[in-house]
This record gives sequence, structure tokens and C-alpha cells, in this order.
Amino acid sequence: MMYAALRSIGAYAPSKILTNEELSVMVDTSDEWIIKRTGIKERHIAAKDEFTSDMGVSAANIALDRSGINRDEIDMIVCATISPDYFCMPSTATIISHKLDLKNVTAFDISAACTGFVYALSIAKAFIESGMKKNVLIVGAEKLSAITDYTDRGTCILFGDGAGAAVISATKDKSEAIIDIHTGSDGEYADLLMTPNGGSGSAHDSLAQEASSCFMQMKGNETFKVAVRTLTKDVEEILETNNIDSSEIKHFVPHQANLRIIKAVGDALKLKDEQVVLTVEKYGNTSSASIPMAINDVYESGNLKAGELMLLDAFGGGLTWGSALVPFSPLK
Ligand code: UT7
Repeated sequence: MMYAALRSIGAYAPSKILTNEELSVMVDTSDEWIIKRTGIKERHIAAKDEFTSDMGVSAANIALDRSGINRDEIDMIVCATISPDYFCMPSTATIISHKLDLKNVTAFDISAACTGFVYALSIAKAFIESGMKKNVLIVGAEKLSAITDYTDRGTCILFGDGAGAAVISATKDKSEAIIDIHTGSDGEYADLLMTPNGGSGSAHDSLAQEASSCFMQMKGNETFKVAVRTLTKDVEEILETNNIDSSEIKHFVPHQANLRIIKAVGDALKLKDEQVVLTVEKYGNTSSASIPMAINDVYESGNLKAGELMLLDAFGGGLTWGSALVPFSPLK
């Protein structure tokens, strides 16, 4: 039996920073309100000519270099994104494979919003365990600034740009393996978080022609409540299924949407502060990039050691959700 192991992590954040003070000039908001209601102080914004694939490539290069795996052994790339370089095609994953000069790899995008990285991880795990692939590069990359309405104070204060990537590879050693991944969805709540225009659902609508057609819209308060409920339930279920106590989790890495959501979930699960990874303050919500960027922060601060158990927990548009029990298993 082959198992799937997370070998390495990498991330990238664009150099330009958008502060709360700058947003306060653009919309009717304040640094105080944003920090109190979200915990966000700043977010990174990609340059005009910097695409989602460029950020994905920067993160992937770091993850590949750290993995100890030859680039020509990568046989699949999965890119999770809601802000692809191009609408419909080509996929951002194929562009990433070209920019990385990886030939003949299976490459495709998935759309699971902020749960994208956990979904991509589950796909990598399934392909590796079935024996179809050996070394999979997964990328969560977002240029959310391209689909953000900077006249809407309910959303523009939240989102930022960035990318994270990980190399997942086959192992026979069960102690290195990803333990379990749970994913789910409920389309009944599709209207809580969506880009309502621009797709085939509005192809004959004049709105689809407008520049703003792909802007995100969110019912923030309702989303908040479902997020807390779903993220907590997710964790309880995956821990119970695998007979693991929350005290055994070294790093709880939740989707970084709002500090209050993370605190509410952490409190409900009785997690200690030192277990909970927080990056929302400096990156805001980067959707599918949020979890790998957060793991990378722990890694780069020297606090992610081989064998340590991470619990990933995500929630996003769709609605989608997912959790994963993942030991950090670099090649020895
Ligand atoms: O990543 C996918 C999942 N996404 C999420 O989980 C996001 C979930 N939602 C949230 O994080 C929060 O709902 C927000 C941060 C978006 C909003 O915070 P809230 O505490 O839920 O505020 P609210 O929407 O209930 O609005 C409260 C008040 C309203 O004013 P009134 O009606 O009470 O006079 C809003 O108009 O705050 C006002 N408001 C703002 N005021 C200053 C909303 N946005 C802003 C703002 N600055 N940026």
C-alpha cells in the first residue's frame, strides 16, 4: 500500500502592502473597525502585470527546492484558485507547469474557494494512494484584488493576494502519511459568497459585459455564523473518526478569514493559543492560498519540525468545507 506524505511547503506574498489606513481613504471604514471586527492590519496586493500563475510559480519553486524531489519526477499539478489567469481556459495549473518547465505533467485547476487547498490535498492523496501518481505539486494561488470591488467596504477590507504550494509524494512508511481528509459542500448556501455575474448563468445579461462582472459579493454576517459552526463541526468529526485528542495537535491551521472566527473555533475546541496558527493580521483572507501561506509561516519561523501533526480546517464559498490531519514529513 502506498501512502501520501507532505514533504515540503512554500509561499509567496507580493511586495505591495495595502494598509487599513489606505482603505479608509477608499471606503467609509477605519483601521479601528477593521482590526476590531476582523483582526486584519494589512494585506498584500499583486502588481498589475503579476498574475495568479506567477505567484503560484514563486511559491512552487520554494516548495520544490525544499522537497528534495527532482523536478522531473513531478507527475501532477493541481492548482486551487478562484482567480485564475484566464476565465475558463487555459487552466492556471497548465500555465504554472509551463513556467516551471515541467513537461508532460497532468495539470488542472479546481474551484472550491477557500477550501481549495484542502480539496487539492485530498486529490493528491487519492491519486498517490491509488498508484496513479507519485509526486504531486499542489498550489493555492489567488489574485483576489482582481475580483474585489474596492467600493464595497463589506468585502474589500478582507481580501489579499498570495500563493502557497506543497509537494506531496508517495511513501510506504505509514508514520509519514497524511492520516485523513474530510471534505464536504452544501450548494443551498451558494448565495452567501459568490461572483454572481460573468458566468454562463448570466451570459445574456448586460451585467456580464461590465468590468465588475466578476467581483465577489458576500453576506458577511450570515457567512460568519455558518463558518464558526462548520469549522468547529469539521474538526470534531475528523478528530473523533481518527480517535485523536485535540491536545495531540501541534499546529491547528485554520483558514484565515477573520480573527474572531478563528478565536471562536479555537475556544469551542478548547485549543491552547500556542496551538493556533494566525496570519490573518498580515495577509488578510487569501482564499485557497491562506492555509499553505500559514503553514509556510510556521515553517519559516523554525517552528515546524518533522513528525509534528497539523490539523487543517477550511471553509469557503460554495459552500465548501474540509479538514485534514497531516504530519509534516520532509524527506530524511
Ligand atoms: O473566506 C470565506 C469565508 N468568509 C468569511 O468567513 C467572512 C465572514 N464574515 C466576516 O468576517 C464579517 O461578517 C465581516 C468582517 C465581513 C463583517 O463584520 P460583522 O461584524 O459581521 O459586521 P456586519 O456585517 O454585521 O455589519 C455591522 C455594521 C453595519 O452597520 P450598521 O448596519 O450596524 O449601521 C455595517 O454596515 O458594520 C458596518 N460595516 C462597516 N463599518 C465600517 C460593514 N463593513 C464595514 C467596514 N467599516 N468595513
